[in-house]
Amino acid sequence: MKLTSNLFFLELSLGVLFMQTARSTAPTSLDWAILNETLGGRLYTAKPISSPCFPDFDGVSVPQIEASCEIIEDNYLNETFRSSQFGSFMAPQWESCMTTSGDFLAWTDLPCEQGSVAPYYVDVQNYTDVQIAFNFSGTTGVPLSIKNSGHDYFGRSSMIGSLALWLSYNAFFVPDGGSESYPAMTVGAGVPWVDAYAFADSNNLTIVGAYARTVGASGGWIMGGGHSVLSPVLGLGIDRVLEFKLVTPDGEYRTANAYTNSDLFWALRGGGGGTFGVVLETTSLVEPRAISLQVVSVSFNSTSETGLQFFQLLIDNGLQWAQQGWGGHLAMNKFIILNPLLTLEQAQTSVQNVTEFIQSQNGTVVIETLPNFYSFFVKYAIPNGAPVGAEGILASRLIPSSVFETQEGRDTFLQALADFPAAAQSSVNIIAATPFLYNATVNLTSTTPAWQNAVWHFIVSTGFTWNSTDEDKIATFEEANNFTETLISIAPDSGAYMNEANVYEPNYEKTFWGDNYPQLLAIKQKYDPSSLLDCWRCVGWKGVNDARSQCYLSLNSD
Ligand SMILES: Cc1cc2nc3c(=O)[nH]c(=O)nc-3n(C[C@H](O)[C@H](O)[C@H](O)COP(=O)(O)OP(=O)(O)OC[C@H]3O[C@@H](n4cnc5c(N)ncnc54)[C@H](O)[C@@H]3O)c2cc1C
Ligand SMILES: *[C@@H]1O[C@H](CO)[C@@H](O)[C@H](O)[C@H]1NC(C)=O
Ligand SMILES: *[C@@H]1O[C@H](CO)[C@@H](O)[C@H](O)[C@H]1NC(C)=O
Ligand SMILES: *[C@@H]1O[C@H](CO)[C@@H](O)[C@H](O)[C@H]1NC(C)=O
Ligand SMILES: *[C@@H]1O[C@H](CO)[C@@H](O)[C@H](O)[C@H]1NC(C)=O
Ligand SMILES: *[C@@H]1O[C@H](CO)[C@@H](O)[C@H](O)[C@H]1NC(C)=O
Ligand SMILES: *[C@@H]1O[C@H](CO)[C@@H](O)[C@H](O)[C@H]1NC(C)=O
Ligand SMILES: *[C@@H]1O[C@H](CO)[C@@H](O)[C@H](O)[C@H]1NC(C)=O
Ligand SMILES: *[C@@H]1O[C@H](CO)[C@@H](O)[C@H](O)[C@H]1NC(C)=O
Ligand SMILES: *[C@@H]1O[C@H](CO)[C@@H](O)[C@H](O)[C@H]1NC(C)=O
Ligand SMILES: *[C@@H]1O[C@H](CO)[C@@H](O)[C@H](O)[C@H]1NC(C)=O
Ligand SMILES: *[C@@H]1O[C@H](CO)[C@@H](O)[C@H](O)[C@H]1NC(C)=O
Ligand SMILES: *[C@@H]1O[C@H](CO)[C@@H](O)[C@H](O)[C@H]1NC(C)=O
Repeated sequence: MKLTSNLFFLELSLGVLFMQTARSTAPTSLDWAILNETLGGRLYTAKPISSPCFPDFDGVSVPQIEASCEIIEDNYLNETFRSSQFGSFMAPQWESCMTTSGDFLAWTDLPCEQGSVAPYYVDVQNYTDVQIAFNFSGTTGVPLSIKNSGHDYFGRSSMIGSLALWLSYNAFFVPDGGSESYPAMTVGAGVPWVDAYAFADSNNLTIVGAYARTVGASGGWIMGGGHSVLSPVLGLGIDRVLEFKLVTPDGEYRTANAYTNSDLFWALRGGGGGTFGVVLETTSLVEPRAISLQVVSVSFNSTSETGLQFFQLLIDNGLQWAQQGWGGHLAMNKFIILNPLLTLEQAQTSVQNVTEFIQSQNGTVVIETLPNFYSFFVKYAIPNGAPVGAEGILASRLIPSSVFETQEGRDTFLQALADFPAAAQSSVNIIAATPFLYNATVNLTSTTPAWQNAVWHFIVSTGFTWNSTDEDKIATFEEANNFTETLISIAPDSGAYMNEANVYEPNYEKTFWGDNYPQLLAIKQKYDPSSLLDCWRCVGWKGVNDARSQCYLSLNSD
């Protein structure tokens, strides 16, 4: 059979095929049809999610499809809906091409364009599909992109003119439980955390993962670091992963663990998604299901004055709470934190100053014990997920314990918050999810070592709207750069989390990877010498002049 012999050929000949130089002419429709046949019919065309709402597409009149448009409008802010559609990303600016078009919200009669959405994607079922796609990209010059859930804050899972590999939900690999010598769970690419949690729970296990239910369990989250509210005690995703299975750009299907391809294993533990290959599954250490958790949830109606008082309490308590094992998400008028180490009484004492303050503000305080992580996830994380469907722009920093240790450090930090504009203050997202108590082995992962001493991963955000002008958008990104500068002044020797940082992060190699960058770059060059994979501010990034970056705006300061 033709298909079978093609695949056989692929398996035997990859090394040779990938040495061909990229050809300059675009693939013909016949080339795409042959690719589709080789993929068993799993090649699809794609458009931005809102296209059915528009009367024209890429300059050509098209029928508007009322029924589809209504579904899109109703679900515009729905993360489960967004993650289930290839042509959709959590932040809609990655659906448009920011440098050439600005219109991405449904229900307007403005022109709709293909934007940054890949015109073709492969519904990846197994590693053979990935090998075929690398072959196609290597021989045609069509760039590749990799999409899982579409949560990436730098837009690295969309790419203009690319052939996309979609590790889609339900595609393949239901998680497997169990392993030989340590309790572990294997999760396929494409599986969202909500499903991984349900599976772990039903097998009497706890797996450490993201707060948002639709973030992928085996994609950008884990390769970039992967924080959890359990990370202060149990470590980051990269601290707990035991093995990756992936196809590297040379077409090889590889296992990467401490014994096999250990250089690649190290690079995948913090070096970032979309860089070293296409991961098909990860295996991570798990804990028993029963982990008794003290949970504290508070909120109040803040003013600018009481909001700063609350920030002061958080800063004053920050170090002690980190030392006690608290993890969670905190803001100007609320927090939800949990602790697997304290008793209920200890927890009450630990947060007493704050609960007194909240009560003085007529706010609400809940302190309770839950029997396991899954019950926390269902009760607290799902209803409090971060918003999607809006153009969020972040600035962030890992804030080290040294800032919290002195009165001067705390004062400087609080003053910086006081100096932020009101909108920025209310956007503050304090993520107490650094591996503060986790006993990590030095140099086992490739992320910035700044995680280890950090008390908080601190985010301040801004944003624009669908009808903002280019000038507005550039000003918004410049504002995020200003926030970044302020945060750097507070913690000049620290770093930032590559998955939740400033799109235009200055000095990003050092900031995301510390002294590990040169070694990461060497590993990138070893496994992907011709840069078949490339993404914005990733290891080995080809820079703004590479065609793959053409949709990113140029900043005056960049
Ligand atoms: C609402 C929201 C909530 C979040 N919550 C958390 C949180 O609780 N904890 C946390 O640590 N982070 C969180 N993040 C950040 C998150 O970790 C990053 O956005 C991460 O990149 C998402 O990975 P993904 O694979 O799901 O998304 P995608 O956008 O699909 O992919 C992200 C990157 O990884 C690459 N990639 C994806 N799959 C693969 C694969 N199989 N092989 C190789 N490369 C791949 C993509 O090409 C892209 O570069 C959140 C983000 C959002 C928008
Ligand atoms: C690929 O083939 C399948 C099955 O024949 C078909 O449904 C699909 O539309 C084709 N994709 C493209 C891009 O033509
Ligand atoms: C969000 O989308 C999912 C998947 O399409 C759907 O099942 C769910 O009901 C939607 N949620 C809301 C609140 O509409
Ligand atoms: C991947 O799936 C295709 C189509 O179902 C199949 O022909 C191929 O053998 C599979 N490859 C592997 C490694 O399972
Ligand atoms: C790989 O690429 C070569 C050259 O374009 C082609 O002849 C071959 O059929 C491809 N194999 C597969 C499985 O796509
Ligand atoms: C989980 O634990 C419960 C209670 O101990 C037990 O009844 C059940 O069989 C266990 N399930 C699995 C999949 O081990
Ligand atoms: C904030 O105020 C509104 C009405 O003014 C009230 O309904 C709400 O319960 C208050 N929230 C908290 C947390 O106190
Ligand atoms: C909490 O309050 C007590 C007294 O009420 C005080 O001694 C202590 O310093 C406060 N702790 C913090 C971290 O503010
Ligand atoms: C809290 O409620 C009491 C009683 O209703 C009221 O007197 C007081 O002003 C309120 N405090 C704040 C900060 O809203
Ligand atoms: C870290 O190691 C120290 C010393 O061995 C130990 O006391 C502590 O419990 C460990 N912490 C965690 C979170 O495992
Ligand atoms: C960790 O890596 C750094 C930088 O590569 C190196 O200087 C240091 O010696 C390493 N430490 C250990 C314990 O291997
Ligand atoms: C942008 O659109 C919103 C409605 O979505 C409208 O309220 C606002 O005035 C518009 N802004 C500009 C600058 O046109
Ligand atoms: C950024 O900071 C500079 C210098 O402090 C200031 O001139 C500029 O207005 C700021 N830009 C934005 C968009 O906030």
